[in-house]
Amino acid sequence: MLGVCYYPEHWPQELWATDAHRMKALGLSVVRIGEFAWSRLEPEPGRYDFAWFDAAIETLVTAGLKLVLCTPTATPPKWLIDAHPDILPVDPLTGHVRGFGSRRHYDFSSEVYLREALRISAVLAQRYGKHPGVIGWQTDNELCCHDTALSISAAALQAFRAWCVERYGTIDQLNAAWGNVFWSMEYRSFGEIEVPFGAVTETNPAHRMAYQRFSSDQVVHWHRAMVAVLREHIAPHHFVTHNFIPMQETGVNNFELAAPLDFASYDNYPLGRADLALAALSGDEFKQYMRTGHPDFQAFVFDQTRCLTPARRFWIMEQQPGPVNWAPHNARPATGMVRLWTWEAIAHGADCVCYFRWRQAPFAQEQMHAGLLRPDSVAASAWPEIEAVVREMAGLDMTTLPSPHARVALMVDPEAEWLSDIERQGAGYDYRQILLDWYRAARELGLDLDIVQPDTDLTGYAVVLVPCLALSNAAAVSRLVATTARVLLGPRSGAKTVEVTIPDGLAPGNGLRALAPVQVTSVETLRPDVSELLHWNGGTYTSRVWREAVEVVGGEVTGTYEDGSAAVIRNAHVTYLATLTDDAFMRAMIAQLCTEAGVALQRLPPNVRLRQRGDVMFAFNYGASGVVTPAPAGADFLIGGGPTLEGHDLVAWRLA
Ligand code: GAL
Repeated sequence: MLGVCYYPEHWPQELWATDAHRMKALGLSVVRIGEFAWSRLEPEPGRYDFAWFDAAIETLVTAGLKLVLCTPTATPPKWLIDAHPDILPVDPLTGHVRGFGSRRHYDFSSEVYLREALRISAVLAQRYGKHPGVIGWQTDNELCCHDTALSISAAALQAFRAWCVERYGTIDQLNAAWGNVFWSMEYRSFGEIEVPFGAVTETNPAHRMAYQRFSSDQVVHWHRAMVAVLREHIAPHHFVTHNFIPMQETGVNNFELAAPLDFASYDNYPLGRADLALAALSGDEFKQYMRTGHPDFQAFVFDQTRCLTPARRFWIMEQQPGPVNWAPHNARPATGMVRLWTWEAIAHGADCVCYFRWRQAPFAQEQMHAGLLRPDSVAASAWPEIEAVVREMAGLDMTTLPSPHARVALMVDPEAEWLSDIERQGAGYDYRQILLDWYRAARELGLDLDIVQPDTDLTGYAVVLVPCLALSNAAAVSRLVATTARVLLGPRSGAKTVEVTIPDGLAPGNGLRALAPVQVTSVETLRPDVSELLHWNGGTYTSRVWREAVEVVGGEVTGTYEDGSAAVIRNAHVTYLATLTDDAFMRAMIAQLCTEAGVALQRLPPNVRLRQRGDVMFAFNYGASGVVTPAPAGADFLIGGGPTLEGHDLVAWRLA
């Protein structure tokens, strides 16, 4: 299905019917509404105005569209904030209250706000929860976007202290667990505990990790309550989803956050995200991705979003249709990319792609953000591309395509990401970048991946890539011990106990030594622009950024540093890397493990990627020039075809 995000409250009522008919005529079937409409739905405390919303729903449904309704809780109205200013969050870095005037101005620890959010959500769910035109619900909007997971309000501090009581029991145990004897940081009671921000220099990593876990738990708790209140009132066949942004941007455990949902959704803005994520590239290097996004960035989040719930499917709730307004620079997509991004999401398991937004708004914060229509209601550049997708979809029976299940898994550990922020140790060490580097290397080999969490059952996977499992995680260790898959374990794994201390007997601790039989005797970090040699399997590569000196206590040394000491250790099905390395090494290593495990590889041109969904294989060309179509001779093409796969184009064929 295809859909669109619509804001009836932004337009005169006379436009609604025309808009709805044009949506339908374009081939859209889903409309998402209501996520920021609180001030219109409840203009005064307790005085609801549903007349306009009823009329908008009626108009859209009469045109044959299905609706996704949202809780309007990302934008508490002015009267609510004025009545309860302590709903507002406090910025951990500046200590300033984050005030009214944009969105997401609420604190996950505010009990008043949770009560109000549940109230307005219940009112909407009661009113529309059995409406035949509604198919599902979105909670809030992009939870924790704009760095809103962490707050240091009085409510947050109080909740954190209670969280610490629950976790540590006595203050002595907390002091011991965190090592508070260091720098005289000991507390005499839970009431003395501070937030780990605003101190003179770095605060205790154990304290920071506790605050991060607490903050993630607060969001998860808040969201569980929201999902529960919706489910109390809505029809059982209505789904509940949430439009996530990448977990790597929020500092929240999205695996836990998604648990109560039917499936997760993702808001896909390839160019805005590329502008931010690829800021370090030179202009010439960046230009190749400026209008396409990076070939692996979207795919990585699609694979992650699909795997957030056991349903193993997802939606794109917002898809960029033209320039956005929020990145430092906002390029236009290359012609063809809106169509390509749409199909790529579907190839990765999306059931629906909704474009953001219907008509570009001529007012307020997002007036420079493209829509499917220009502000004067003339079709904008994405329109013919969506028409093309609609035509192509008609020739593909999507309902017969099962959700993808890959043979290669990439394990993502939210706590490894938090540790990489809390105790970076080397400025070039960034867990997020390592994840993408490993993912990219696998995708360049033509592989499909699932992105799994540390306690995912690994049955059925042939190769499991674990870039870093930094802290003690008993569930993950037992999964890795039990699997028969080839496992590649990256450096810094088992580096810390659960309370961010060095394990007894040195790293890797926490049971990981059974898999990686080494003892890390020392760690050094290097500037990202220097490296030393790494020898492995007859080839010479580089050892970079993070380098462990290890004493080998078992297994076999298969790779060495420049000085001949151990850098790669193979122990039965597990390979341990004691250093970060380069793309060529990662490709060679993953290729070797896949070959051993009988997983087929394919050599691809640099900007071409494959994705299989059911018995359909898709190939996407992010590059500007044509390449030889990477399909077998005589392929039964469903989309495109012919000997050349043009730039910014895709093909799909049915597998024999
Ligand atoms: C998303 C958000 C939308 C809109 C959009 C602009 O992050 O959910 O409400 O702001 O960005 O690109």
